[in-house]
Amino acid sequence: MAENGKGAPKALVAGNWKMNGTKASLKEIRLLSGMLKGVRLKCDVMVCPPATLLGKVNDLVKSSRISTGGQDCHAAPSGAHTGDISAAMMGDAGASAVIVGHSERRADHGESNADVKAKAEAAHRAGLTAIICIGETLEERKAGAALRVVSGQLKGSLPAKATGDNTVIAYEPVWAIGTGLTPTPQEIAAVHKHIRKRLGVLVGEKHGEAMRILYGGSVKPGNAAELMAIDNVDGALVGGASLKAADFIGIIKAYS
Ligand code: PGA
Repeated sequence: MAENGKGAPKALVAGNWKMNGTKASLKEIRLLSGMLKGVRLKCDVMVCPPATLLGKVNDLVKSSRISTGGQDCHAAPSGAHTGDISAAMMGDAGASAVIVGHSERRADHGESNADVKAKAEAAHRAGLTAIICIGETLEERKAGAALRVVSGQLKGSLPAKATGDNTVIAYEPVWAIGTGLTPTPQEIAAVHKHIRKRLGVLVGEKHGEAMRILYGGSVKPGNAAELMAIDNVDGALVGGASLKAADFIGIIKAYS
């Protein structure tokens, strides 16, 4: 995690349940809080359930070390936006963070960098941490454009006032999400180093050093330790393997 002996930010392991989970899934939260009791945690643990479960999950995690986040928010605080949810509403339901700009939102809902930035700013106004996702497609990687794509997304999506306290970056190569494929440790190290450098330019070195850069895309209990040992990887954004407490705890333990 730490590079050149510099203090790295505390790791964050965040689970993104995506459009999965009903009341029956709350048992996984109960199991996870139980499993965490015996663990000497060195990372922060977060679960981002669907909005329908956010309040219920928060009731369950009150006395545990699990925090919660939303998966997306509207850029406005309230208003005539049928079906949308604001960052303030997520906060009201107990969330301390919200994921913005996930590649599935960018692809399914045509969200641009400007949209993502507006959502991140809305998260900040509501007192939430914005987890801003960026990452290249397979075509872009094959074309040798991964660093350029990530730079563009970072520049376009990151609010100027982002700090290590209010913002987390998640590097998620689109082709690694839900596929079982991951970049090599060298490839991840190169992108994370690049992101760290760009952050220094965009928000200043102090905030850039303090900002967590998560890796996401097919993180599993079996590869978590190897991924977390990579320089400038300050945690993981986990999809499929966060749905079952038995898998998620394996990843958390690799960071603890
Ligand atoms: P995955 O998803 O872990 O299932 O690959 C990661 C994500 O999309 O955040």
